Amino acid sequence: MLVLGIETSCDETAAAVVEDGRRVRSDVVASQILVHAEFGGVVPEVASRQHTATIVPVVRRALQEASIAWSQVDGIAVTSGPGLVGALLVGVETAKALGHALGRPVVGVNHLAGHLAAVYLEDPALPEPPPYPHLALLVSGGHTALIRVDGSGRHRLVGSTRDDAAGEAFDKVGKMLGLGYPGGVQIDRLSATGNRDAFALPRALPARDDLDFSFSGLKTAVSTLLAARSVAPEGPELADLAASVQAAIVDVLVKKSRRALAREGLGHLVVCGGVAANRGLRAAMAVAAAEDGFRLYIPPPKRCTDNAAMIAAAGAQSLRRGERAPVDLAVDPGLPL
Ligand code: KG4
Ligand code: ZN
Repeated sequence: MLVLGIETSCDETAAAVVEDGRRVRSDVVASQILVHAEFGGVVPEVASRQHTATIVPVVRRALQEASIAWSQVDGIAVTSGPGLVGALLVGVETAKALGHALGRPVVGVNHLAGHLAAVYLEDPALPEPPPYPHLALLVSGGHTALIRVDGSGRHRLVGSTRDDAAGEAFDKVGKMLGLGYPGGVQIDRLSATGNRDAFALPRALPARDDLDFSFSGLKTAVSTLLAARSVAPEGPELADLAASVQAAIVDVLVKKSRRALAREGLGHLVVCGGVAANRGLRAAMAVAAAEDGFRLYIPPPKRCTDNAAMIAAAGAQSLRRGERAPVDLAVDPGLPL
């Protein structure tokens, strides 16, 4: 089964062809980062226009790189939410038009279910997919959630953020530090040479015992720290601050994941979403896995950030379950998991 995946929920125009829900035949991502960087964040109207201009060439390239003809596509999977409404519309309308023209089924995919499915794509770093049930930590620009996954399409939220998402915290602090967009990537880069203990920053664990996250206190702490200084940190000191911020975010993500695994009695952890590309988080999770004895599954960095292969993987699972989108499939910018 060859599934064409289409993803346009935010600032990446992406298309991919995945075989049997696992083998990536092509994976094309046209990033808009450079376009949005000059505004310091994603501008929704600009994103929609960029998607409109690039979606057709991106889909064509995905088919070319997979060396398949239109007639070989068995189904089309498209992100229908959550995300930016105008951006989502470009992907969904493209998928519906293609489905109609080719006479092939279309399925709407929840972007979050897509992130969860990235771990099922074949990769040398992931010799085998995680068994059910497992726990997933989904950390992206818009979401921070601990999810119990009991089967294909069967999940339950066990913890989430009370304010900012982890990626949002990285990006907002990055902006305060004068780093480029997206801040998460810059903080990751700077952290490599910084001292994570140089600055004492809060680890928000609201109630000792819960599985929720909060990152607003960290933001406030960094802003207070910067306001108290006459010159902005730079050079090695900036790297130290970046490393301290990254450590504050990573520590909380690791601690709550460990607690959730224990509480749910699970021995397999998936980490996914853009922030799962973070080197500090990947390393800290590997240490926790060795200490606690759970199995860790993290997709390669390019499958953590937004891509269409993960949408095709999730779409293949829904197609197998017999799901089909109605001809008037609509976008839902606030679609819950
Ligand atoms: O999953 P994603 O590509 O898009 C959403 O669904 O939101 O996640 C984007 C987020 C951004 O906040 C970005 O700063 C963050 O993932 N991110 C990182 C890294 N790479 C991407 N954060 C920390 N370290 C990274 N290496
Ligand atoms: Zn995403």
